[in-house]
Amino acid sequence: MARNMKGILHDVILLLSISLSLWSLSIGCLCNTYKDISPEPTIFESKVLPEDDCCKASIGNGYLATTVYTDTIYKNGLYNGRNGESDRARIPSTIAIKIQQSLPEIKNSYLLDVLNGTFFHLIETPQAYIEQRLYAHQVLTRLLVNEITIKRKFVSMEQPVFLTLSNNLGFKSEDIEFSIAPPSSDQGPWSSWGKTKISETTSSTTQPVFTFWTTIPDNITLPSNVYSKTWTFITSVSDNQDDAETMYIVGRGQAQKGELFKTHQEAWKKTWSKGRIHVTGNIKLSKAIYGSMYYILSSLPPVDYAANNPFLFYGLSPGGLATGGNQRDYRGHVFWDQETWMYPPMLILYPELAQAMIKSRTMHLQAAKEYAVQTGEKGARFPWEMAYTGFDVCPAPKPAEYEIHLNGDISFAVQQYLYATNDTNFLTNDKGYELVQELANYWAGRVTYDDYKEAYTILDVMPPDEDHAPVDNSVYTNAVAQIALRLPYYAASLLDQKLPDTWSKIADNMHIMYDQENDYHPEFEGYERGTIVKQADVILLGYPIMYEMDQSTRVNDLRYYETYTEHTGPAMTWGMFAVGWLELGDKQRAEDLFSESFLNIREPFKIWTETAQGTGAVNFITGMGGFLQAVLMGYGGLRLRQDGITMKITLPQDCLKLSFTGINYLGNSLDISGNSTAMTVELTERLEDAVDLDLKVSNYTFLRLSIGEPILVSGASIKIMPHRR
Ligand SMILES: *[C@@H]1O[C@H](CO)[C@@H](O)[C@H](O)[C@H]1NC(C)=O
Ligand SMILES: *[C@@H]1O[C@H](CO)[C@@H](O)[C@H](O)[C@H]1NC(C)=O
Ligand SMILES: *[C@@H]1O[C@H](CO)[C@@H](O)[C@H](O)[C@H]1NC(C)=O
Ligand SMILES: *[C@@H]1O[C@H](CO)[C@@H](O)[C@H](O)[C@H]1NC(C)=O
Ligand SMILES: *[C@@H]1O[C@H](CO)[C@@H](O)[C@H](O)[C@H]1NC(C)=O
Repeated sequence: MARNMKGILHDVILLLSISLSLWSLSIGCLCNTYKDISPEPTIFESKVLPEDDCCKASIGNGYLATTVYTDTIYKNGLYNGRNGESDRARIPSTIAIKIQQSLPEIKNSYLLDVLNGTFFHLIETPQAYIEQRLYAHQVLTRLLVNEITIKRKFVSMEQPVFLTLSNNLGFKSEDIEFSIAPPSSDQGPWSSWGKTKISETTSSTTQPVFTFWTTIPDNITLPSNVYSKTWTFITSVSDNQDDAETMYIVGRGQAQKGELFKTHQEAWKKTWSKGRIHVTGNIKLSKAIYGSMYYILSSLPPVDYAANNPFLFYGLSPGGLATGGNQRDYRGHVFWDQETWMYPPMLILYPELAQAMIKSRTMHLQAAKEYAVQTGEKGARFPWEMAYTGFDVCPAPKPAEYEIHLNGDISFAVQQYLYATNDTNFLTNDKGYELVQELANYWAGRVTYDDYKEAYTILDVMPPDEDHAPVDNSVYTNAVAQIALRLPYYAASLLDQKLPDTWSKIADNMHIMYDQENDYHPEFEGYERGTIVKQADVILLGYPIMYEMDQSTRVNDLRYYETYTEHTGPAMTWGMFAVGWLELGDKQRAEDLFSESFLNIREPFKIWTETAQGTGAVNFITGMGGFLQAVLMGYGGLRLRQDGITMKITLPQDCLKLSFTGINYLGNSLDISGNSTAMTVELTERLEDAVDLDLKVSNYTFLRLSIGEPILVSGASIKIMPHRR
């Protein structure tokens, strides 16, 4: 009940756009009493398991996810409920097996090791070592695994070791009508199958789900004279029966050979070797970075999934894949958060995953076109919130109607993708070219020519600052619309095609609000100076979207909006200010704002709450995305433009070195590390069709990058660009 209440409250608040802080006292997630005792940056360890689910760690692989020991499994794209009532459908957990402790223990701890994406419960008794591992398999993506190994301390000991187990299955699903069958043989799995109860739209179907799981006994015993034994409990889930069953069998086979955990672990190892951000010297920051990377990655498909066990990926939700049921945590819906907040760091480190995110849009291009027709518009319009059909599922009418900047945010994400990869195959074979043109069509139909201003205006929108809507000429909305209107030409140039100049004419005449007297950007037409705004909005012009302006204007925007932004705003706000101040070289000011991000992190497992007061969505990966951008684009100073990547390192407080492993650019993978006086750039890997790169160290010096030849640059700023012939 409490959970439902919170969900309903949440929507009411969204609806009325009143501050979230009003109800923080009663239901915030704070986890104040817990401590992470591990000195390792990649391990979060606690002697007690938090009681409150919001403080617990989660495991996931983009297809399935669960918060450890809770009664719920969520599956990517599985939602129940009509339109705004849709939320993630709950699959009762058959993997929340817990060791009931009655043993005299010497040691007991719970830990999340992000490097192998595994949650451990470790127990040491006078007799034995007990290790429990919970993981969402990174290769066999339909599997969640709970394994228990009991190992004797002394081979000679005769006494059996006995453990009592329990499973937190929870009540029957409110969302899915399940039938259950017991195992057909001694060793066989249980199975269940069913369908969600209510389809998302009147014309869509309810969704099937099939699960297979290992029988869970009340207790397990390591017999006398046996040194060690592992029990592997597997739950396999899929929308296809054969798929679920086959994966279960493959998983069992690997478990019998002792390989199941190994293949999972190796996949994570590979992921981290492909992309990583490491800071030397500041353990708190380092842990926050690893935690953020881990939770975003575990809501995304594994890096190799396209080759291994492909599936349709439905996009990232602000609370990740392990939350979103019970009307909470934005119901698991996909918002602009995906493109604007989680996407940028992933694009740089894992372009494959960035592509998976963009494809969560292209696969719904048809729905977006129909949605545009429904709302009397042109081209393709992506709804403010989407779930599995691609049609609007926003429970609040105002954002649904007015928060259209998403359609520019998607174009900006595609623009950055093309700059980073030059992937023309995406344009021609994955609907990318059609996507950017339909988005331009949308905006072309949405603008109004204003005779007095002699410019194109965009009326009645809700800007990122959701406290003000509808407004006209939101400066952010108009600026991303301009990008969307220009992008088709860039795409066309890569394909050696020509397009009529209809869109560019609009883009070039777009009205971008600017106040000359105060040399800053008012948020929208009629914005009165001194009005408080909800979150980072106008300052997004400078970064991420890199709208061209004088430095003085950038300074004024940052100064002004820093004063007039709600202090209890969502987690990604201050990181964006930090990026701005770092760009301008004001390290102290950046540090003060950056440090505010830590208030959203919950111990011991580095879960994020939407606000510093512990309210709003958990596990708020949107905030983590903003945080990682503050590290990579703020302290790392990284910017990706059409002509190259620039970086400028500023060391965060108490840091000796910043290292970025696996920066991807045009088929090249680069390791870049350094401090404020020197940087090392090393080319480590190249795809077959990689573009040759130069490192520009001054206006006159360009050094060719080759594998195995790291270049040390004195000074803290560099540019990497296609090789000049
Ligand atoms: C998990 O990975 C870490 C880092 O690779 C490793 O040190 C640790 O031993 C692994 N855990 C297990 C149980 O293998
Ligand atoms: C252990 O589990 C078995 C099978 O479920 C049950 O028959 C037995 O009573 C249990 N033993 C104890 C001590 O709980
Ligand atoms: C990107 O691809 C296009 C089309 O193949 C090609 O003309 C262009 O040179 C490429 N750009 C870079 C930077 O390699
Ligand atoms: C920065 O890095 C360079 C190269 O590794 C090193 O020589 C220098 O001492 C470092 N400077 C500081 C302030 O740590
Ligand atoms: C390098 O070129 C840029 C752009 O042309 C110019 O603004 C800058 O002053 C030049 N820097 C040096 C050191 O010559």
